[in-house]
Amino acid sequence: MSIWRTKSIEQSIKDTDEPGHALRKDLTGFDLIVFGIGVIIGTGIFVVTGRQAAENAGPAIIVSFLIAGLVCALAAMCYAEFASTVPVAGSAYTFGYASLGEFVAWIIGWDLILEFTLAASVVAVGWSAYAGDLLGIPTSIAITDDYGVNVGAMAIVILLGVVSTLGAKLSGRVTAVVVAIKVAIVLFVIVVGAFYVKASNWTPFVPPAEPVPAETQSIGHQPLTQVLLGLEPSSFGIWGVIAAASVVFFAFIGFDIVATTAEETKNPKRDMPVGIFGSLIIVTVLYMAVAAIVTGMRPYTELNSDAPLAEAFRGVGADWAATLISLGGVIGITTVILVLMMGQSRVAFAMSRDGLLPRGLSKTHPRFGTPYVMTGITTVAVALLAGLVPISALEEMVNIGTLFAFVVVSVGVIVLRRTRPDLPRAFRAPWVPVLPVIAALACGWLMLNLTVDTWIRFLVWMLLGVIVYFCYGMRKSRLARAEHTPTVKDDSAD
Ligand code: ALA
Repeated sequence: MSIWRTKSIEQSIKDTDEPGHALRKDLTGFDLIVFGIGVIIGTGIFVVTGRQAAENAGPAIIVSFLIAGLVCALAAMCYAEFASTVPVAGSAYTFGYASLGEFVAWIIGWDLILEFTLAASVVAVGWSAYAGDLLGIPTSIAITDDYGVNVGAMAIVILLGVVSTLGAKLSGRVTAVVVAIKVAIVLFVIVVGAFYVKASNWTPFVPPAEPVPAETQSIGHQPLTQVLLGLEPSSFGIWGVIAAASVVFFAFIGFDIVATTAEETKNPKRDMPVGIFGSLIIVTVLYMAVAAIVTGMRPYTELNSDAPLAEAFRGVGADWAATLISLGGVIGITTVILVLMMGQSRVAFAMSRDGLLPRGLSKTHPRFGTPYVMTGITTVAVALLAGLVPISALEEMVNIGTLFAFVVVSVGVIVLRRTRPDLPRAFRAPWVPVLPVIAALACGWLMLNLTVDTWIRFLVWMLLGVIVYFCYGMRKSRLARAEHTPTVKDDSAD
């Protein structure tokens, strides 16, 4: 029994037509761009920008966004090649199964479950804070002095779980309206904010490095690179700009989820590259512009708040604009939660269809054609995490999980070019193998700039995944069963 067995690409594509386990194919390239922007623009730009400018990068946060955007563009080339070659639900998981073998595929799938579930929960908590701010009422019920149940976050997650069960088309329509509002608000920040910019706020552009305060000097809070290189714990300076890049990377998460919908796309070969690059280019330009405007409006030291975009406008006396931005934030962040939850159920769906998770989980709804069992489980898990666990400290966990998946996809492109040079590729990444190698190294470098605590949590989660695989998936997967009974159709064991 081999843990390196691969699933043939032809089999992956054929599985998508299996009755009772098939998704509807009705998304277009434009739908994918809308979908991408729907999940990409969220808490990252609305919240994390201000915090990182204040704590790590100063006005050079603009450069941090550029670095993170470029790393994503490199990974996007690899994602686009894979998604246009293997148009099947499950994103990096499916790509891994076709190129690097079952064990690696499982590891990526397990990693993506971490990414999507935690990201949806973190973003739902952020949504709840904005909603409370806008309505002027608390959205958490206090249980003790320092612990509360976040009812607002739970409510939005359950509502969105129902929406995604009703079908991708309905969810797509809702997404389109919300994305229009969100992009309008971001453009509003850029255009109106430009009138309040003072060029003096951009100096110093890269604030000089300074030691971090004593209370945050514990080793767990330091980027792994600083610990490995034996550097004094510091913020700002060049290292601060890079550390900020690995955190604002959160703002770009989502373009990879576009690839998870390949199976529901009408013409994935053409639409996948359009969707992935279209959304990535648009958001990178918007982010750099927003970062420039906000750091130009206020001194970077004053940007550390829960709603920095709104605060920047309040700080210059434009309260009406601040309220409008908060409202746009609440509406805009909604789609991020929705798409992250859909991404999560699609990956787990694909893993279940392959037998690495119990097969009953990949049943699709007879009427709506959506993976309703997996969506239900995802909804409950995200609602419980968002409602009961104080998870705001875990946003870096989302980044490390995503970057890891990018590394594997980049390596996978090289492997698949060698093992299956014959496959038609609607999109071919340029300069293979040099570009994927650079992409993998760049993602690895950003991972190393995340904190020691993040690394420990990540490794514990991955170790758990390895145990689950050896106890369950290794024997139960469809490929494993086919190895045992090659003449019996493996579905019969359901
Ligand atoms: N990119 C998404 C956000 O910023 C996760 O909210």
